[in-house]
Amino acid sequence: MLEIKDLTVRYGPFLAVDHLAMSVGKGEIVGVVGPNGAGKSSIVKAIGGLVEPKSGRLTFDGSELQSVPTHRRIKLGISIVPEGRGLFPRMSVEENLVIAGDALGNGKRVQHNIERCYTLFPILKERRWQAAGTLSGGQQQMVAVSMGLMPDPRLLILDEPSLGLAPIVIGEIGRALTTLGAEGLTVALFEQNAKLTCSVAERIYILASGAVRHHDRAEDLLKNPEILDHLM
Ligand SMILES: Nc1ncnc2c1ncn2[C@@H]1O[C@H](COP(=O)(O)OP(=O)(O)O)[C@@H](O)[C@H]1O
Ligand SMILES: [Mg+2]
Repeated sequence: MLEIKDLTVRYGPFLAVDHLAMSVGKGEIVGVVGPNGAGKSSIVKAIGGLVEPKSGRLTFDGSELQSVPTHRRIKLGISIVPEGRGLFPRMSVEENLVIAGDALGNGKRVQHNIERCYTLFPILKERRWQAAGTLSGGQQQMVAVSMGLMPDPRLLILDEPSLGLAPIVIGEIGRALTTLGAEGLTVALFEQNAKLTCSVAERIYILASGAVRHHDRAEDLLKNPEILDHLM
């Protein structure tokens, strides 16, 4: 579904992503695990069209992404839950979801998807009229994931959803992603948290200094945790 070849991202002289190749197949949950500064957000931004790669060929369902402007990529079905969540803190939970669903241009569909998000995260229904910025970190992340789901994506990309969250809340986010995967959604999870990623994803890329160091099935990685210790 998503195919990345030879992706290079530079900030001035600094090489953040170095001739990277990776792919995400339809219906898969793929994890990209790497420490701080490994290049995760740079890859996510390149997929979203928020940074201009120095080289690379990105295709989504066979269409070349380079010539597709950022706002059209969401129409293609690529939805990104950005690092730092990107929600509107003064607006209510439900207003955030409505805004995120705007691209659908279909009020009924927006309402339907809001209810789906509330089924996935029942606490958000209780908090629907509360300003999003006053929620706990975990609840804010649930809003961010829900916003990512609102436009009916075919590929959901998450950039470090576990950041700053307590283990119990990370577990809840992980279970929600597993549910979405079981429903057939294609997911790419970019994370520093290897435990979360291995529990959710089927296939894992280990990233360091902008390049893939290792690529394995999650269950095999879990059997050989020293690989993770060594590479991260
Ligand atoms: N706008 C920027 N200008 C300069 N360097 C940047 C910028 N954004 C990221 N970097 C650098 O690129 C590298 C990769 O960053 P990033 O993609 O954010 O990694 P990660 O998300 O894995 O932490 C880091 O060393 C970071 O300091
Ligand atoms: Mg990052």
